[in-house]
Amino acid sequence: MFIVKSRIVEKKEPQNKIYLLKIHSPEIASIIQPGQFLNIHVSDDSYPLLRRPFSVCDVEGENIYIMFNILGEGTRILAKKNVGNSLDILGPLGVGFNLDDDYETAVIVAGGLGAAPFPYVTRLLRNKKKILSFIGGKTELDVITYGMHNYKTASDDGSVEFKGTVIDLLKTQLQHLQNQKIKIFGCGPTAMLRSLKQFCMEKEFNCEVSTECAMACGFGICQGCPIESTKNKDKYLLVCKNGPVFNIKDVIL
Ligand SMILES: Cc1cc2nc3c(=O)[nH]c(=O)nc-3n(C[C@H](O)[C@H](O)[C@H](O)COP(=O)(O)OP(=O)(O)OC[C@H]3O[C@@H](n4cnc5c(N)ncnc54)[C@H](O)[C@@H]3O)c2cc1C
Ligand code: FES
Repeated sequence: MFIVKSRIVEKKEPQNKIYLLKIHSPEIASIIQPGQFLNIHVSDDSYPLLRRPFSVCDVEGENIYIMFNILGEGTRILAKKNVGNSLDILGPLGVGFNLDDDYETAVIVAGGLGAAPFPYVTRLLRNKKKILSFIGGKTELDVITYGMHNYKTASDDGSVEFKGTVIDLLKTQLQHLQNQKIKIFGCGPTAMLRSLKQFCMEKEFNCEVSTECAMACGFGICQGCPIESTKNKDKYLLVCKNGPVFNIKDVIL
């Protein structure tokens, strides 16, 4: 784990109001795994005090990418940063996706900004496994396809190819999924992950999900990011340290 001042070398808006920062950070880029995250101090002074967590979106040489939209004060400040500005970054943090299991097809299921970790996952898997991606959002504007491969899209308002949730879309492909050895990788709002869990438990699909919650330290000290474990009643895991990626069977969503 490093704390580094890292320079923004590129800023893009691949979709309306979705920001992508390319950050030169050789120490972190050389070791970060897909699904791991960075805890970023977004301003140059003490406000906001707490760092904000962001998944690594992609890695290219000595650079890392993050993708975000404006939610509150921290992301509003981050969106104003430009090429040449530096960010104080803590990372890599947490446990990422295990891409090396025994499966033939990676099934990626993303809702809204839950798409953020998957360009890196896709890049690493593209020459090794078959990839099927399912991407959802409330409207077309929330369906983030940046860096995705072989995808189908869903939105609540029907403005993309399928009207409904991304899990409804996934269910339409059940027969196809059952005909191959798959592993599902999911990230998105908790309601989506709950619905994904029900689907995976019923159909006995192997699935890992990247979970989210408000965080402070980001590395297991403050105990501020508990998630309930299914393995032991009364036992909580820490999203920042034991996750954010968990086997979907192991946590209560
Ligand atoms: C491991 C991890 C990885 C993440 N990766 C990304 C990413 O790649 N891209 C991205 O855009 N966001 C990501 N997030 C969420 C991101 O950290 C928050 O959006 C960000 O901290 C919001 O900061 P803010 O100051 O703009 O909003 P705040 O002012 O802190 O919050 C604005 C509102 O959003 C709510 N909120 C804050 N954080 C979260 C959260 N994690 N989940 C649900 N509601 C929240 C607050 O309760 C509040 O109502 C990730 C979170 C975690 C835990
Ligand atoms: S954020 Fe501090 S323990 Fe997880």
